[in-house]
Amino acid sequence: MDSLIYKSVEKETSNCNLEIQGQIPEWLSGDLIRNGPAKFEVGAYKLNHWFDGYSMIHKFSIQNGKVSYKSKFLQSKDYIRSTSANYIKNRSWGTVADPCASIFNKFFSAFSKPEASNASVSILKNGNRIAAVSDFSSMVEFDFNTLETKGDIKFSDQFGNDYMFSAAHSCYDPETKEIYNCLGKPGPKGNFSFVKISESTFERKPFGSLSAPKHTYFHSYALTKNYFIFLEQPLELNIWQLMFSRFLNRPYEACYHWKPENGTKFHLVNRITGEVKTFKSSAFFFFHTVNAFEEGDEVLIDLCLYKDPSVIKDLYLDKLKQNGLKKGKHEFTLQSYNKFTNRNSRSYSALRRLSGSAFLQHEKVMQIL
Ligand SMILES: [Fe+2]
Repeated sequence: MDSLIYKSVEKETSNCNLEIQGQIPEWLSGDLIRNGPAKFEVGAYKLNHWFDGYSMIHKFSIQNGKVSYKSKFLQSKDYIRSTSANYIKNRSWGTVADPCASIFNKFFSAFSKPEASNASVSILKNGNRIAAVSDFSSMVEFDFNTLETKGDIKFSDQFGNDYMFSAAHSCYDPETKEIYNCLGKPGPKGNFSFVKISESTFERKPFGSLSAPKHTYFHSYALTKNYFIFLEQPLELNIWQLMFSRFLNRPYEACYHWKPENGTKFHLVNRITGEVKTFKSSAFFFFHTVNAFEEGDEVLIDLCLYKDPSVIKDLYLDKLKQNGLKKGKHEFTLQSYNKFTNRNSRSYSALRRLSGSAFLQHEKVMQIL
């Protein structure tokens, strides 16, 4: 079963009816679109990390108790360039490619996002448009019905096309129809711009910003009625290593380092004013938020936590093939941080494991800004 995770899919699928076990409720109908890595080799060359696999878009159409399925490889520039050359042309999260690039190109490409993003992580539906996305800020649009790739979304807003990072998972408010994300630009410090993405146009409008001691890894956020919640976890980008990463044959992933002594910070960004309130806890790593909401003047957030980011290293394909997905090794804990207060007084939070009724531990989460 493990091997299916890193086994390349050889071909696309046109509409086919899927075998169903059990019964699908009659009232359930609609389309489920998924994105994910599906091809891990180009010619004789292999991608290194599970996150690097070339994107395949999957569509499950559910109607009248039946499910039809189709899939297509995303024809991103990365995919086209590499498969045409039969060679891995672009470096990605865990793969360094094109060792023949000139020194000039190696240096000046260090700070840029992959020239042709593979966008293999998630999707962003925005009004009547839909795009494949990753933690690099490129977005590749495709047709909702046919899954045919339309091409990279060109940003003509004030941020342009040069911002390197934005999380694969945006936040969406179905009441205001606003999409929230963050743009990150690597530098000696962390520079994060919080943006709302306009419906259908993808124009990104800033509503707040944050300067942090370092650029840190981010993959998802949370949203409440009044706050966009940005978590600054201590997986720090070493800017000097990034600068020389191509000379040293170091992939992006290897430029990040775990600094648990710095703790994890919760930044509550006011959705209207952009004002930031910051709370700090002991260090944890996370990919995904689950939910966030407000009760009175308290803000609650549910997260899937890991004690450290070693899960990333274990998703290198050689390790994955060697060790498989060992049950329990990287189990996350669903936990809830609660009682961030809007009041000015300093506050603390109880860290609660949702799977049990009892509080397993208590921890102070101090407001620091
Ligand atoms: Fe994710």
